[in-house]
Amino acid sequence: MTPERFFDRIAGRYDRAFAPAAAATRADLATLLAGRAGVALDLGCGTGRAFPHLVERGFHVVGMDVSLEMLRASSRRASAASVTRVRADLYHRWPFPDQAFDVILALHSVLAHPPARSGWTHVGAELRRVAREGALIAIDLPEPSWAEQNLRRVEGRYLFEDRDAAIEADVPDPREVVEALGLECSIVPGPLGVRALTARSSTT
Ligand SMILES: C[S@@+](CC[C@H](N)C(=O)[O-])C[C@H]1O[C@@H](n2cnc3c(N)ncnc32)[C@H](O)[C@@H]1O
Repeated sequence: MTPERFFDRIAGRYDRAFAPAAAATRADLATLLAGRAGVALDLGCGTGRAFPHLVERGFHVVGMDVSLEMLRASSRRASAASVTRVRADLYHRWPFPDQAFDVILALHSVLAHPPARSGWTHVGAELRRVAREGALIAIDLPEPSWAEQNLRRVEGRYLFEDRDAAIEADVPDPREVVEALGLECSIVPGPLGVRALTARSSTT
């Protein structure tokens, strides 16, 4: 099943059944966004959990997701005029101009479902293209040990299952993802495993 279909199916239950606790998200974003301002891109924004936290800090927010149902579910958090939502696929060209964003988030394992690992190289190139100089890029990556304990392994990949739906998840050592992204990231403990974190100091 494609990520689009899978997340369309679970959109109605996502906040209840799958999302991290609201208080943890609030605390996490308060730390992450401290001292930051401008335009934020929320990749795989899902139900828009990050939107209110970004808006209350004065960000103009662009939420991008491939799942129309997740985007629909985000409408209640996107009422502020400063939130724009866009349906687009991470693994195709992103519909944004160069150097458009001061903060780019990909929270809660958004990058865990690439069509192939070369997809991460594409994502890295798009991140470099749309990030402004000095932009903060924060990407949550699941840890292999978590996947090993919680997901079923089929032919070298993991299956994330829910009722009658399933999606493949690619969960290598986070250093492999960072290498494929081609970004100089530090890998730090994150709320869900690890986080790849970079402040881009140049636009090349
Ligand atoms: C686990 S949810 C995380 C949602 C949100 N970031 C959060 O923290 O709650 C993963 C999201 O990534 C989106 N996604 C997965 N693959 C995608 C792709 N190829 N392009 C765009 N969005 C994608 C899904 O539709 C889903 O909304």
